[in-house]
Amino acid sequence: MKSTLFFLAVVLVLPVLAFADDDHHKGTKQLSVVVNDIYKNSCGSCHFAYQPGLLPSKSWVKILDEPDAHPGGNVSLDEKAKSEVRNYLIQNSAENSHSKRSKKIMNSIGSDAPVRISEIPYIKHKHHEIKQEVFARKAIGSRANCIACHRSAESGGYDDDDVVIPK
Ligand code: HEC
Ligand code: HEC
Repeated sequence: MKSTLFFLAVVLVLPVLAFADDDHHKGTKQLSVVVNDIYKNSCGSCHFAYQPGLLPSKSWVKILDEPDAHPGGNVSLDEKAKSEVRNYLIQNSAENSHSKRSKKIMNSIGSDAPVRISEIPYIKHKHHEIKQEVFARKAIGSRANCIACHRSAESGGYDDDDVVIPK
């Protein structure tokens, strides 16, 4: 009887623990889903709303507050919306995120404050095998169009096993 229980423990419980651990591992790589509606509406209409954990807070502040810093030109926001967006981005920025991706991003940029996620050395390196003409394809258009290839980007997943490059 005792040995049967032991057998059950090994066969049933251990795989569950191993699976849970794998989930946990994925969970820390994953970036938090964008939940702030004002941010989504203000910054997610031309491109998808990039997760705040993809840039440090000083990059976000620069994009919001410095004229000409945003790569897509001037975005007009009223002060109330801007302040809410700023708070949301700072609170969830790369240095305040639990994701391993954000830590890699922080290590990669050092003290810089890039305004493009696509230009972060870590992100650039991950895409160095993709030719410029691939990014230029009609269905992609740009390196900044993460969701064109990363099917889980909107839910914060950038794993290489969930990428499909459109033809
Ligand atoms: C009117 C359209 C529009 C709105 C609204 C907009 N953007 Fe952009 N944004 C762009 C364009 C165009 C680019 C350049 C994309 C490219 O290079 O393909 C860009 C690029 C970016 C990039 C760099 C992407 C990269 O990695 O190269 C960031 C970050 C960004 N925007 C953040 C924001 C934030 C924050 C807001 C809200 C305050 C915002 N955007 C609102 C049009 C917009
Ligand atoms: C043209 C399609 C394409 C676009 C656009 C693209 N990626 Fe990727 N990305 C890939 C491919 C393919 C890989 C896997 C590269 C490899 O492992 O050899 C990858 C890898 C990555 C990785 C590393 C994944 C891992 O598990 O190591 C990250 C992080 C990432 N991309 C983030 C982004 C972000 C953020 C954007 C937008 C700013 C973006 N990507 C835009 C195709 C793309």
